[in-house]
Amino acid sequence: MRIVSGIQPTGNLHLGNYLGAIRNWVRMQDEFSAQGGQCLYFLADLHAISMPHVPTELGANTREMVAALVACGIDPERSILFNQTQVPAHAELQWLLSGTARMGWLNRMTQWKDKAGKNREGASVALFTYPVLQAADVLLYQATHVPVGEDQKQHLELARDIAQKFNNDFATEEAPVFTLPEPIIPPEAARIMSLRDGSAKMSKSDPSDMSRINLTDDADTLMSKVKKAKTDPEPLPAEAAGLSGRPEAANLVGIYAAMAGQSVAQVLAEFGGKGFGAFKPALGELLVESLAPINTRFLALREDRTALDTILRQGAERARAVAGPTLDRTYSALGLIRS
Ligand code: TYM
Repeated sequence: MRIVSGIQPTGNLHLGNYLGAIRNWVRMQDEFSAQGGQCLYFLADLHAISMPHVPTELGANTREMVAALVACGIDPERSILFNQTQVPAHAELQWLLSGTARMGWLNRMTQWKDKAGKNREGASVALFTYPVLQAADVLLYQATHVPVGEDQKQHLELARDIAQKFNNDFATEEAPVFTLPEPIIPPEAARIMSLRDGSAKMSKSDPSDMSRINLTDDADTLMSKVKKAKTDPEPLPAEAAGLSGRPEAANLVGIYAAMAGQSVAQVLAEFGGKGFGAFKPALGELLVESLAPINTRFLALREDRTALDTILRQGAERARAVAGPTLDRTYSALGLIRS
């Protein structure tokens, strides 16, 4: 088994990242590294330049994100933790796969459509070819499983399509070049929504910080964000079916369930019939209590720039070694000579 996943270092780690992806990264590391499986987790800093960015912030955010991931439980000994930039094979493989990826496939990507909006002519080429780099990220390591939130499912399907077409065009059935990766999406927290709008996902790019819970928020900030979260005037229903058509209520109950390790039915068995005046403080306290240890570790780790850079450098060295054979086989399958 080989588990691979990435995150863009474009801001704070938020609750959507944590419940949708990072918690699974840690679980898979704990479960599979003991059985000889390998986990590679990386900062997608090359993806981050597909949108306008401030260079000094990107560097600082990359280090902060390493501190946040380690604080969440990623162990740089058991997992390979690195940034794309220090493993040039990602960018190389992206180019090699660009001959296989089709314009029509990329044109159908919802993230491209959302982020480019009406101004496609003005969008960067990197934003358009972004999913090819993402395919390279996982195919490079022969990933078998990719823990992600729901919003990345389409990109993973594209990676499978690229792998399949490349294998068909340039390899044999007996000796395919690429493994087809499986997405691993947590059913209970596949899509955590904004605290201000139950129809938009919680996101780093939302201009309002009140829309998201950052793993680095202190207890007071966290409590006030939960208390100010948008809701409706009805009390909570006794059963899950009663949440339909109530996206904000469904989101908060879903967060409670995911955080407490309970089902939505269990949460509603406790809170059904109660109003948000009772539910919100309970949710706030649960979040403060669960996130406090992560917060404390993060604050201690973020100061040690040398240690963070060492983690990235050593991780990249290990990642380059894993990537080498696949990159060699790809060049060779395409008839490109490296003497
Ligand atoms: P990114 O940085 O936007 O998000 C990192 C991970 O967090 C998940 N996620 C969410 N899950 C549930 N609810 C939400 N509101 C929410 N917001 C984010 C994402 O699904 C993701 O798993 N393109 C990717 C990074 C990437 C990658 C890869 C991922 C680059 N190469 C290869 C997997 C494999 C991205 O921008 O994720």
